[in-house]
Amino acid sequence: MRKILNGNQMVLGTCYYPEHWPEHLWEEDLRRMLACGIKVIRIAEFAWSKIEPTEGEFTYTFFDKFLELAEKVGMQVIFCTPTATPPAWLTEKYPEVLNANIDGVLYRHGARRHYNYNSPIYREKTRIIVEKSASHYASHPAVIGWQIDNEINCEKDVFYSESDSAAFRVFLREKYETLEKLNRAWGTNFWNQTYTDWEEIHVPRTTYSDSTNPHEVLDYTRFISASARGYVKLQSDIVRKYIKPGDFITTNGLFGNLDNHKMREESLDFMTYDSYPNFAYTKEDYERFSRTMQDRMWSKNLMEVRSTSPVFGIMEQQSGANGWNTRMAAPTPKPGQMTLWTMQSVAHGADFISFFRWRTCTMGTEIYWHGILDYSGRDNRRLQEVKDIYKKFQSIQQIAGSRYMAQVAVLKDYDNIWDAQLDVWHQDVEKVSQQSLFIAAQKSHTPMDYVYMDDEKTSTSLSDYTVVFYPHPTILSPDRVRMLEEYVAQGGTLVLGCRSGYKDMTGQCVMDRLPGLLQNLTAVDIPEYTRTCPGDEPVLIRWEDDLLKAEVFTDQLAAQGGREKTSRILGMYENCYFTGTPALISNSYGEGRVYYYGSVFTEQAAETFLRKLGVKKPYKELLELPEGCELAVREKDGKQYFFVLNYKKEPVQIHVRRRMKNLYDGIDLQGWMQMEAYGTLVLEYNRNM
Ligand code: GLA
Repeated sequence: MRKILNGNQMVLGTCYYPEHWPEHLWEEDLRRMLACGIKVIRIAEFAWSKIEPTEGEFTYTFFDKFLELAEKVGMQVIFCTPTATPPAWLTEKYPEVLNANIDGVLYRHGARRHYNYNSPIYREKTRIIVEKSASHYASHPAVIGWQIDNEINCEKDVFYSESDSAAFRVFLREKYETLEKLNRAWGTNFWNQTYTDWEEIHVPRTTYSDSTNPHEVLDYTRFISASARGYVKLQSDIVRKYIKPGDFITTNGLFGNLDNHKMREESLDFMTYDSYPNFAYTKEDYERFSRTMQDRMWSKNLMEVRSTSPVFGIMEQQSGANGWNTRMAAPTPKPGQMTLWTMQSVAHGADFISFFRWRTCTMGTEIYWHGILDYSGRDNRRLQEVKDIYKKFQSIQQIAGSRYMAQVAVLKDYDNIWDAQLDVWHQDVEKVSQQSLFIAAQKSHTPMDYVYMDDEKTSTSLSDYTVVFYPHPTILSPDRVRMLEEYVAQGGTLVLGCRSGYKDMTGQCVMDRLPGLLQNLTAVDIPEYTRTCPGDEPVLIRWEDDLLKAEVFTDQLAAQGGREKTSRILGMYENCYFTGTPALISNSYGEGRVYYYGSVFTEQAAETFLRKLGVKKPYKELLELPEGCELAVREKDGKQYFFVLNYKKEPVQIHVRRRMKNLYDGIDLQGWMQMEAYGTLVLEYNRNM
């Protein structure tokens, strides 16, 4: 059985760097960790040179010694492959392993993640170090699992080395076979971009106004994702040969230009995530997040993690201030915030929480990225809070393996995410809708999931959801449309926003009536559309008693002729030159219903849909909470666990309407109660009682 994420236990861990500390501290550190309930550590993700100090010379004594000690004191270890930081001897001798900027200037030794995934030499060196490490350490009794590399695609998620161009050509040849097909897919007739030889193709290079052919960039992004996944698979295939039964393989974090879902399916037993909600209070990000929901925005990231692994781990949970010497400046978590952020992770499905890091580093770039302990290592307030978290964990052991429950989902897919990165029109609608749907659901205590679409998925992945939003599926394939049709036909409710269906998989616009492939399902026609301009009068949409303000974009709809039996116009534009034009049309299709809304989902529109479709506040009979609290629900064996999280710096009043058990102290409660500043609660509710 797995030692963590086994459905039976909630476990605490921390990140430890034996190579950063004098050996005489190791034992004391491990014993102190154990004394406060930390049972797992992660080690070695940046320590290549401790195993291969010079090319081809392997030595295992350093980590052998450490693992022996770990075993002696009873500490379990997640061992890492060290490929995020290639050694100086390697990059100096083989500069081709380095990543480059868009002009081909190499990123040199001295930071991290400076390699590229496609260099044949780096792949070979990776194969060797992973084989050596795994074959030596995987059988060690203290080792319980492996982390591949560290934060795949973090720091840089674009690659411009020579090896990347060479690999990009191979990727494209496999995909298109002929240059004719590639030229068609990339629309190279435009601006005379036609390729006549594969060697003329490169990863994107500096172009005027950064306006490289968008269809090419979309394929390039798919290529980066495939490269990263291939690189992780190369490693996990090796590690897999050596791990003990029950041991696991994971990696940490979710980053851009990477299909994290496919990576998980191909190579990992589960995903772990690095959760730093304090970014909401850093110098650079304060403005961005304070306008929204500050640290509560991290729940959006946790929803993403959950969509890859319903029960997951946190490899790095914030335990101190963040900061590099070069960037980022955030305060120390206030009393209670470490617990709040830990329980935020747990509420969304984390059964393993490992704090970053045990001791704060005294050297290098991350001297301000604080761990539990400060430089001196003395006992402090945050260590005390870890002890308290451990106590809480002991009281909630029974929730291990329970699943987050939601009846509303937002559909996503990588083609549209990547298209939105390079198409500012698409980006503008997507940004507003994604953020607003999340915030509206959060404020109204409506649990929500993300579900990722791909061509292999079937409608069963949606069948648990009463209502599914697919805000702006600009790019669509016939397979995805078939899946949506199936979901609706079987009784689901699908809500689509403006700009749906106007591109094909290459990112080119379709020469069809809009919404393209969705015409049949929606019974909608879109004869006209426009962006809204900052100086224009606000566009208003009337939907019964609700008057919605349309932002960013409007599709002017028409009901398709001949579909009157099933389709209904529900909303109209109230002003501008399209007064009286339909803005919302619903169509019943099989057992279900689809709504086409001609604009973006602002917070107001999102709230209106949740309310009118009857999925807002599903637990209002049980709990009444202020907007500033998050509600999450995990379920197991007929029992529901309600997580209430108070992100506010002041106490709040909540109303527990039905009798529930407070798991922290085992006492039943009902009625009004006060939650302290940054307070958390886990309430058990037995529906059958
Ligand atoms: C990441 C990394 C860690 C550390 C922290 C703080 O999440 O995985 O190695 O660098 O950030 O920067």
